[in-house]
Amino acid sequence: MIKIGDYEFEVKDFDVDQVDISLDPPAEEPARQYYFIAKVRAILRERFEADVRSGAALSHYGKEKLEDMLTKKVFGTFAVVTFGCQMNEKDSEKLTAVLEQCGLEKTDSEQADLVLYNTCTVRENANQRLYGHLGYVHSLKKKNPNMIIGLCGCMMQEKHVVEKIQKSYRFVDLIFGTHNIFKLAELLSETLCKDTMEVDIWEGTDKIVEDLPAERKYPFKSGVNIMFGCNNFCSYCIVPYVRGRERSREPEEILKEIKNLASQGVIEVMLLGQNVNSYGKTLKEPMTFAELLKEAEKIDGIERIRFMTSHPKDLSDELIQVMKDSKKICRHLHLPMQSGSTRILKAMNRRYTKEQYLALAAKIKEAIPDISLTTDIIVGFPGETEEDFEDTLDVVRKVRFDSAFTFLYSKRTGTPAAAMEDQIPEDVAKARFDRLLAEVQKIAGEVCGRDVHTVQKVLAEEKDAREEGWLTGRLSNNTTVHFPGDISLIGKIVDVYLEESRGFYYTGRLKD
Ligand code: 5AD
Ligand code: SF4
Repeated sequence: MIKIGDYEFEVKDFDVDQVDISLDPPAEEPARQYYFIAKVRAILRERFEADVRSGAALSHYGKEKLEDMLTKKVFGTFAVVTFGCQMNEKDSEKLTAVLEQCGLEKTDSEQADLVLYNTCTVRENANQRLYGHLGYVHSLKKKNPNMIIGLCGCMMQEKHVVEKIQKSYRFVDLIFGTHNIFKLAELLSETLCKDTMEVDIWEGTDKIVEDLPAERKYPFKSGVNIMFGCNNFCSYCIVPYVRGRERSREPEEILKEIKNLASQGVIEVMLLGQNVNSYGKTLKEPMTFAELLKEAEKIDGIERIRFMTSHPKDLSDELIQVMKDSKKICRHLHLPMQSGSTRILKAMNRRYTKEQYLALAAKIKEAIPDISLTTDIIVGFPGETEEDFEDTLDVVRKVRFDSAFTFLYSKRTGTPAAAMEDQIPEDVAKARFDRLLAEVQKIAGEVCGRDVHTVQKVLAEEKDAREEGWLTGRLSNNTTVHFPGDISLIGKIVDVYLEESRGFYYTGRLKD
């Protein structure tokens, strides 16, 4: 039960109108944020109603949109623009839920009353993309001065970025980081009441705030955070600096969330963490990731369980066994190798060798022959020689990944690798990247088609983007399938005959 003054509620029954905002805000979370949701909503409603009376709302939104907003009882529009990984996608769902409860309506366009950028800084091009968007949104704000622009996420955990924004992007209204996204409502209430930029960045946290509002992009599948942060300190990687130390959620909280999702019709969950294989080590009563999976498997209604991301050094035999025995855990393992050279792996602080990676991949494939293995590879790490690169190609050829995300090494300020001598010239790295990509694609094209001419279970996920009357779905091993089907099938697992393999995806038809 959450309590604000005399009002007590369960998350799912929260009624914003019951909150007495004349009281002082509660000190404890999450009650405090529910209080601020009510407060922001009251401020937005008051401003919107004044604009409706003065005619400003009519000229701003136009007649049709305004009527629609009055019917829906919303007081403005918002967009959350997400960069980066599934962790950020999940965070954006949380931000979206708060903004909706504040009385704003979601739009996909940045022409909105509030635009929030959830940023990524894993590679430099993620940063550059943000600056591109900021130029555009600034031009929008010039036409709509009341617009609120917020920045959050990983990039904001970097001091030099925040300093740059404060100096050169003064039109931004709100900045917060990865550790305090749960505070969005409170920060918005501050922002709405002042003219200067609101900046709240935490260096780190050991806090996990549970029971905040949540929103889902898909009704039938959902990400579930099982842990936050990372303790690995791979020498190229900024994540431990921007997402902080590893913290696992209590298993009861995770399982409660999954049960709740199942009761709402979710059939697939993706367990999320930077390094799921070290789940549970920091809990008062330690628990392994494999044990957590076994518990999740017992939950009725959940039919597919996925997880991201595994670190090879922590992948246990227990996990392989649990996957092998499971009917629900999907036949897909994303196992970032980063490099095939033992020397480079050491410089990357990955704590496994080429041979250990190969042995692990072989062991997994032997135990679970129908598994799809995918990976991440970085090309052009400082000191990488042609011989090192050949080792990477060698592993790619031996493991035969279903797909591989290939990245050019990107220098991240503050990481050990940024200070390493022998940074690789761009043209050399790019040439290797192209060779790697060609190899990866050739192999993936051969491997991915192995289920052609069989009937497989497909979760129908959405309307096909290209073919009218078709759907797009996924196999347990994560390969995409396009097939003719009615939208009523979306969210269901159906039997599909895989007619043709097109390299990275199949086309098929529903089994009669
Ligand atoms: N440069 C290039 N790629 C990187 N990754 C992480 N940090 C960097 C970097 N500095 C890649 C890794 C990781 C994926 C999410 O991003 O391959 O697995
Ligand atoms: Fe980007 Fe890493 Fe942050 Fe994900 S955790 S958004 S990949 S920097």
